[in-house]
Amino acid sequence: MIHKTPKLIIQGSENPLQGTVRASGAKNAVLPILAATILCAEPVTLHNVPKLQDVTTLTDILRSLGALVTIKGETVTIDPRTINKIRASHELVKLMRASILVLGPILARFGEAEVSLPGGCEIGSRPVDQHLKGLEALNAHIVLENGYVHARAPSGGKLIGAPVLFDLVTVTGAENIIMAAVLAKGTTIIQNCAREPEVTDLAQMLVKFGARIDGIGTETLTIIGVDKISGGEYTVMPDRIEVGTYLCATMLTHGNVLIEQCDPTHQEIILAKLRKAGGIIETGPDFIHLKKDASAILPVDLKTAPYPAFPTDMQAQFMAMNALANGTSTIVETIFENRFMHVNELARMGADIRVEGNTAIIKGVPYLSGAEVTSTDLRASASLVIAALVAKGTTTLDHIYHLDRGYANIEAKLTSLGAKIQRV
Ligand code: EPU
Repeated sequence: MIHKTPKLIIQGSENPLQGTVRASGAKNAVLPILAATILCAEPVTLHNVPKLQDVTTLTDILRSLGALVTIKGETVTIDPRTINKIRASHELVKLMRASILVLGPILARFGEAEVSLPGGCEIGSRPVDQHLKGLEALNAHIVLENGYVHARAPSGGKLIGAPVLFDLVTVTGAENIIMAAVLAKGTTIIQNCAREPEVTDLAQMLVKFGARIDGIGTETLTIIGVDKISGGEYTVMPDRIEVGTYLCATMLTHGNVLIEQCDPTHQEIILAKLRKAGGIIETGPDFIHLKKDASAILPVDLKTAPYPAFPTDMQAQFMAMNALANGTSTIVETIFENRFMHVNELARMGADIRVEGNTAIIKGVPYLSGAEVTSTDLRASASLVIAALVAKGTTTLDHIYHLDRGYANIEAKLTSLGAKIQRV
């Protein structure tokens, strides 16, 4: 039997994207924030929660632990008081690597946790050794058995605050340790902590509910453990990667788009690179307005690195833009070892890209042509969608479940700006 899975059919066009679009809540902020509700002693209401498959996966995990979850549009209410299980099963964890985020909070609240160990994924091997090392520093006893991480706090059931020095910058690793340290006995000092805005958003939510965290937004966090944190309401930050993706789409189509409800302070390097490529950008407290005139896109070199440097999650979209630029550019990927899978698919649309180690050399071509292409991971899919908007002819994109993991209403949003895109 042939299974028919949804595809996107995108009609390339010379029409510029035009209009106004609202940023959704950030996927990579809402996932740790949902996990952090496990720590709370009272119900939590979250606003600006994007409708994404990854959010469904994490709320399914919370339900499987015993939480009551209600979803109404972009508002999600979680009652964590009924959580009575400590095991996150492989069946759910295998759907999304970020599920490892429940490890720290389950362990902190119950003194014990069993979480399926995420495997490698399309973009790299992505070990979680730093998460485990950090929890061990907080005196957890950790055993890996039958594909699960079994973690136990010292007798008395509480983790013990301690210095934690990360060997490398890890976003979810930092988030796991922050969540674990919030209810630990004593003080935890985290050094070489990721400074991504999503880490800051999590820390701010925890502080709002009663956690004691100093140094938020810096690479050294001091967390003084408290007996409990309450609950309440919190609004998730806007998705800077979604915003960046729509900005690249606007550039490619020589469009004129206003993005509302975003935070331009999170996008500084992205905006700087877009200006280099020829974008005319105006920002206000919560909007970005980008215009690209009819002149050619200029090539921009970039190298991915932890925040505030250029985000790996925007690399593929900039590659689509560079593929049509007036000249040659290089993109160096330093975060993940296998995050160039969009290269071959872009090449099938006519792009001229050569990969040498962790560097892609992109020679701009005058046009791309529509093709049948395959999504390989979330951001690779986004790069193919935006390339398809300007390719000559029709592009069919399959395996779009990758896209649905991280982009809320992508067809509706692009269609409202004038794109011709359809799900079949
Ligand atoms: N790493 C280790 N050991 C660890 C943890 C990480 O060696 O214990 C390595 C990774 O293999 C990678 C590097 O450290 O080479 C950085 O990985 P990081 O841990 O920061 O990535 P992550 O936390 O798993 C988050 C985002 C990713 C984003 C990266 C980098 C979430 C849910 N995911 O992943 O988002 O690419 O940070 O900024 O926050 C996406 O949205 O498309 C996405 C992949």
